[in-house]
Amino acid sequence: MIVILIGYMASGKSSLGRLFAKKIDYNFIDLDEFIEIKEKMPVKNIFETKGEIYFRKMESIYLDEIINKDNNIILSLGGGTPCYGNNMATILNANHVKSVYLKASIASLIERLKNEKNKRPLISHLKNNEDLAEFIAKHLFERSVFYDQTQYKISTDNKTKNEIVEELYSILI
Ligand code: S3P
Repeated sequence: MIVILIGYMASGKSSLGRLFAKKIDYNFIDLDEFIEIKEKMPVKNIFETKGEIYFRKMESIYLDEIINKDNNIILSLGGGTPCYGNNMATILNANHVKSVYLKASIASLIERLKNEKNKRPLISHLKNNEDLAEFIAKHLFERSVFYDQTQYKISTDNKTKNEIVEELYSILI
């Protein structure tokens, strides 16, 4: 089985994925980190030097590679991965894949992202918290069409990481 964690930036995909993998003794892969190793450059630099279209192509190629080759892993995607190319169809059509949307409210995403803007190429240009709030609300609305297609959804607001990991365990194992 491959468990794929999906959700907006800062929804906890990587940290929860790592914890859950440890709990069930699976390997963990973070797609952004996988791309950084393969491309020998941080995601931020890929965006800056090669552009977003190149990044999206690599994201699809490496997602396919992992889904076709690996098993018994927890895979955390980038926030945009399910929303480009055929990625969501690839995820839903693979029999050995279970997908989970880690659903965080706009308010909690704003809270988490306002201190991390500079690390993230899609929001680093936003000038203030008002612009950030407006961007997230609109962007999340557009992306929800894809996120909502996952087999499972877990709301993460007001829950500890351990509580969310237990919930993942109870729905998937
Ligand atoms: C992106 C999210 C990032 C990373 C890239 C684009 C997005 O991953 O893939 O900066 O389009 O939402 P995280 O969701 O892990 O921050």
